[in-house]
Amino acid sequence: MKMRELRSILVTGGCGFIGSNFIRLLLNDGAFTGTVVNADKLTYAGNPLNLSGIDELYPGRYTFYRADICDHETMTGIFEKHRIDTVVHFAAESHVDRSISGPHEFVRTNINGTFTLIETARRCWEGKDGVLFHHVSTDEVYGSAAEGEEFSETTGYDPHSPYSASKAASDHLVRAYGHTYGLPVTISNCSNNYGPYQFPEKLIPLMILNMVEGKRLPVYGDGKNVRDWLFVDDHAEAIRLILRKGAAGETYNIGGGSVVSNIDLVRLLCERTALKTGEKRGVYEGLIQFVTDRPGHDRRYAVNSEKIKTSIGWTPTVSLEQGLDGTISWYLDNVDWVRGVQTGEYRSWIEKNYGDRDR
Ligand code: NAD
Ligand code: DAU
Repeated sequence: MKMRELRSILVTGGCGFIGSNFIRLLLNDGAFTGTVVNADKLTYAGNPLNLSGIDELYPGRYTFYRADICDHETMTGIFEKHRIDTVVHFAAESHVDRSISGPHEFVRTNINGTFTLIETARRCWEGKDGVLFHHVSTDEVYGSAAEGEEFSETTGYDPHSPYSASKAASDHLVRAYGHTYGLPVTISNCSNNYGPYQFPEKLIPLMILNMVEGKRLPVYGDGKNVRDWLFVDDHAEAIRLILRKGAAGETYNIGGGSVVSNIDLVRLLCERTALKTGEKRGVYEGLIQFVTDRPGHDRRYAVNSEKIKTSIGWTPTVSLEQGLDGTISWYLDNVDWVRGVQTGEYRSWIEKNYGDRDR
């Protein structure tokens, strides 16, 4: 199989959870000798401390811009200055609950921002060979899976939340640019990620931190909603492989194969966290509280990853227990990062170091 050469990669949203893990994995890959440009608006979810030390580790190979993907002029400047040949597009509003309470930013960044970015790529890449626009998307575009059903790449789109609808719209735009203009595009639709640097509004880090602080563990509805969990490094590796071996125009589903209900996952987290802190598991379980359900809450996600396994050779390597153990240790050990995020101190640090322009 012919491998794409990676030279100058633009990563959008690289200061977020998955983007920062991806940049670290990519630069650590001995076969990659190119450069990475990270364009991130630094919303509440973007934290340059997720990549602290990266410039020193890889001198001359990493450049950061505080930039909004909706800003066509700035994006064009980045493409031209750095002769970008590959885009990995992570930047998005990513939290379903926030999309319910405030959908505006989801439409702005996820739909308009993706449009601006891919239109910039089309204009800057006219007549160029060897380029690729990779769009990072979600399994939530497929809606809710029936018991025993798995989402495949041909499952029809049926998004239910403003978040998933905005991601579905962006997927359609990216695919349309491939069909209409012949732009080389790939899309990946991935299941729930977890691991280091995840903002503690998402289920797993929220539960770990609430446990150690003795706060209640809010489980939505009856707790029987099911998610398919994937350790973040396995997702990052899947994207790295798509950049190298993926075929233009293709979509790849990525799932962890750890399909569990929320209540079972929270109980497992109680057990594994107790092993590390020495607290009694029952004390943590006693903090579980069933709360009002998320409106329109999808019941079940399960992803079929056969295509990426057989065509590209990807396979998840981290079991749920291993991944949770590593993640729990990371949140217990990285107290400065956790405190900075919880108190909002990281925002003052960002404004001091990156200015207060609202991008
Ligand atoms: P995140 O919320 O942790 O990070 C998003 C990043 O995008 C932040 O750094 C933020 O500052 C940046 N950003 C937001 N708006 C921007 C804009 N207008 N211009 C530039 N940067 C902007 O998200 P994440 O969990 O790392 O998810 C990354 C991508 O992966 C998203 O596209 C998401 O839809 C997708 N995804 C996430 C998961 C998951 O479980 N977290 C699963 C599948 C797919
Ligand atoms: O499936 C991929 C998606 O996974 C990504 O596209 C999204 O960006 C990412 O946020 C994630 O979405 P979810 O809504 O599934 O993740 P979240 O961590 O918010 O919730 C996981 C499950 O846990 C979900 O069924 C809701 C439930 N939940 C969540 C929180 C925050 C609770 O029961 N209690 C909570 O406090």
